[in-house]
Amino acid sequence: MSAKNNLIMNKIQGKVAIITGGASGIGEATARLFAKHGARAVVIADIQDDLGKEVALSIGSNQCTYIHCDVTNESQVKYLVETTVETYSQLDIMFSNAGIISKSKQNVVDFDMDQFDRLFAVNVRGMSVCVKYAAQAMVKREVKGNIICTSSIMGRIGGEGRTDYCMSKHAVVGLMKSASKQLGQYGIRVNCVSPFGLATPLTCNLLEKEAEEVEKIYQPMTSLKDVVLKVNDVAEAVLFLASGDSAFITGHDLVVDGGFTV
Ligand SMILES: NC(=O)c1ccc[n+]([C@@H]2O[C@H](COP(=O)([O-])OP(=O)(O)OC[C@H]3O[C@@H](n4cnc5c(N)ncnc54)[C@H](O)[C@@H]3O)[C@@H](O)[C@H]2O)c1
Repeated sequence: MSAKNNLIMNKIQGKVAIITGGASGIGEATARLFAKHGARAVVIADIQDDLGKEVALSIGSNQCTYIHCDVTNESQVKYLVETTVETYSQLDIMFSNAGIISKSKQNVVDFDMDQFDRLFAVNVRGMSVCVKYAAQAMVKREVKGNIICTSSIMGRIGGEGRTDYCMSKHAVVGLMKSASKQLGQYGIRVNCVSPFGLATPLTCNLLEKEAEEVEKIYQPMTSLKDVVLKVNDVAEAVLFLASGDSAFITGHDLVVDGGFTV
């Protein structure tokens, strides 16, 4: 590889990153991309232990580790951040990405409130706790870090259904905006990545379809003819927000939607 290419491939050289929901889908793709771009340590945090360990091992135990962390459990998130900082001396990047979607359609007239509560515990409370402990660690050690939260295009528009998911993703944008205002004084940037629908276990399980079929549903809805959104496209957006390439960007919700929300 030429020296020039080498530079291009090392956008987060030496950085320490946590990725919640890193065992699968967007989180997994981002873990692989972060490692490729020179991250010193990528810590995958998830509840799918076997899968998370497998992904970490396939990236390489010198660069990637797995920690069990249920983001609905504040003490587990605290442990995750503390262990990462103790092991690697600092935390530079928190990609708070873990999220779920309710099985029920969740129209307002027939909300299943148990599913609503579960979803909010992960998508809103869990996200807030991850931002809280990442910010504490960065402020304490004077690290001008980056926090990226996964919202969704559903954080910008209303939904035909999935009202709880839509509400939760709006909340993530509110969290990101407030955190960016509060943490800017420490040089910490906070942004969101907001993907359009794409094939991951989350959507494949929900729609009970294979990845290709899921892509066929979503693809025609965007403005980009014949371009299919893949997990790597989202990972590239996250890498941009996590790296110096976005040095003056904070409080931003970066949609990756092929023009859908325009
Ligand atoms: N797939 C899409 O179409 C799409 C679109 C927009 C936004 N998103 C968002 O992207 C994020 C990642 O989703 P994905 O599509 O990659 O799905 P995914 O199911 O492949 O990945 C989500 C990961 O989060 C983990 N997770 C779930 N609950 C957790 C908890 N309590 N604690 C820790 N980890 C937990 C899961 O085990 C899984 O590994 C989510 O926030 C989702 O809402 C997805």
